[in-house]
Amino acid sequence: MRSLLFVPGDSEKKLEKGFDVGADVVIVDLEDSIAAQNKGLARDTAARFIAAHRHRTSSLIYVRVNDLSTGLTDDDLAALVPAKPDGIMLPKSNGGPDVQHLSAKLRVHEAESGLPDGAISILPIITETAAGVLAAATYAKTSARLVGLTWGAEDLSAAIGARATRDANGRYTDVFRVARTMTLLAASAAEVAAIDTVFPDFRDMAGFEAECAEAERDGFTGKMAIHPAQVPVINATFTPSAQAVKNSLAIVEAFKAAGNPGVVGIDGKMYDRPHLKLAERLLARARAAGLGA
Ligand code: COA
Ligand code: MG
Repeated sequence: MRSLLFVPGDSEKKLEKGFDVGADVVIVDLEDSIAAQNKGLARDTAARFIAAHRHRTSSLIYVRVNDLSTGLTDDDLAALVPAKPDGIMLPKSNGGPDVQHLSAKLRVHEAESGLPDGAISILPIITETAAGVLAAATYAKTSARLVGLTWGAEDLSAAIGARATRDANGRYTDVFRVARTMTLLAASAAEVAAIDTVFPDFRDMAGFEAECAEAERDGFTGKMAIHPAQVPVINATFTPSAQAVKNSLAIVEAFKAAGNPGVVGIDGKMYDRPHLKLAERLLARARAAGLGA
């Protein structure tokens, strides 16, 4: 899961395009990109489109439903689960209990659609409310459906009354950096993927590339996109380089050859257990990206 492209669920034209751009995941949106009066139309359009076209895309298909406080989630699931999406994105999640709540709902819908129990994954956005940020530690061990955690800045700014999310230099202000950091820590604690948030200024490719590079450096394993042009940049940034794969293989091999000790030396440099763990993580990411590692 490197690239996750949002596509508004009421736009057949964008769905058509979004299924073809090589995103690891297409997130068909029923939430913030859909006006209140169009929710029903978006459900019908999205469900029909997914059922008819999912066989022709290699992308996983997720659906972003409306959050649990809206009263719309059940209708979203009733309309979309029969189209057999791979996952549900849960916005404005307030903590682990929200994931368990959604999981219980999914169980019923899966049964009614002839899907096995647990077939549909859950990817919550965990920093869109203040309570959500503060509850980041509650996601670990909530559900086997949990595949990752991601974060969002726009809804949090509205929730807390922040007039901006970034300072004059374009850097996220403290509260949003905390939200971003909590997501990384919470994902690691829950042993699931950490997915970075969207970059709304879709014409600023240099800014986007810099933000992708920073996210990859810090431990995110993927990033959400709002525009097709962002997808190849994400895929490239979050695919380990040939050199990184080579280095990691050398570390794993050196530990194996030495009988799995605590520490080894390679080319005059010390490598201990944390290096081995990092190397194994990188190789797992390379394999997930389809590289033979
Ligand atoms: N998914 C699929 N196709 C998309 C797309 C997306 N997210 N964003 C743009 N496109 C398509 C456009 O329809 C256009 O297609 P065309 O060449 O056949 O006309 C092409 O890509 C180029 O788009 P462009 O003209 O550069 O942008 P736009 O002004 O049409 O769209 C947005 C700009 C922001 C409205 C659009 O990118 C979008 O809808 N993004 C997703 C919004 C969303 O889901 N938000 C919720 C999560 S934060
Ligand atoms: Mg939102």
